[in-house]
Amino acid sequence: MKEEIVKLKKERNAIILAHYYVADEVQEIADYVGDSYYLAKIAKESTADVIVFCGVKFMGESAKIVNPNKIVLLPEKNADCPMAHMATVENVKKIKNEQDDLAVVCYINSSVELKSVSDVCVTSSNAIKIVKSLPNKNILFIPDENLGRYCQSKIPEKNFIFNKGYCHVHTAIHAFDLMKTKAKYKSALVLAHPECTGDILELADFIGSTSQIIEFSQKSTCNEFIIATELGILYELKSKSPNKIFHTISEQQSCPDMKSITLNSVLSSLKNNNYQVNVDDVIAIDALKPLEKMLDLAK
Ligand code: 13P
Ligand code: SF4
Repeated sequence: MKEEIVKLKKERNAIILAHYYVADEVQEIADYVGDSYYLAKIAKESTADVIVFCGVKFMGESAKIVNPNKIVLLPEKNADCPMAHMATVENVKKIKNEQDDLAVVCYINSSVELKSVSDVCVTSSNAIKIVKSLPNKNILFIPDENLGRYCQSKIPEKNFIFNKGYCHVHTAIHAFDLMKTKAKYKSALVLAHPECTGDILELADFIGSTSQIIEFSQKSTCNEFIIATELGILYELKSKSPNKIFHTISEQQSCPDMKSITLNSVLSSLKNNNYQVNVDDVIAIDALKPLEKMLDLAK
């Protein structure tokens, strides 16, 4: 299967992008593996004709919006991030009408419709930097409340309005289980993703996006870590630091949508051109603005 994927990739001038949360075998065959920001940037800069995005729907959509003339393929049609749909356009419009001096900050884990009514997109690696740089006093942060609250803790001078969205994978990591794991591995540092709830972040020694967690573990003089994010990250953590030890907290740390992508679906995607990502032209024009603003402000 791997050989066939390599052959088809060459024939079609295709590249494979994969998020750190997909299965090890898929990360292994990808040309680029990274966090949401890195993958959006690679998609934007790519000269390939075809982008196979091994991730969830919002990632493929973002790649298509910045590359309307390329073929963008999502190997699994139903791989979607539930959080991407946890805010409504109506509510965003309502708050925009009510508030002066407001910026709508949209986590990239969001539908195209939500992006189209937002001022700027962010990912977990650049949210603090971007929100700090905005001139507006009021910030409507959609759809993730936990990332929004984490940003607020770092930017107290701004007034945040939150939305009740969440990642079901990160919020399934409970403080009780983390405390049990900490008690077992006393010298391990806790590395957490900001999609976790506030009580987990309070117990963390480091908070960051997937790539920031990987970088921290590599540079740290510590040899043992407890990982509070999705389990797929272990593949890169272990390959970058083969002599270090990584503990997980519970079996719930697995994203079913990310894990639905297999080598077989990647092969079938390259063979049969499924599943092509299409975004409505009119919505795409409005959704491009916050994505481009993010790519610019995060530089
Ligand atoms: P990052 O890779 O940007 O940390 O995002 C995590 C995530 O949940 C993607 O769905
Ligand atoms: Fe969405 Fe959470 Fe899965 Fe990321 S890990 S794709 S935020 S459900």
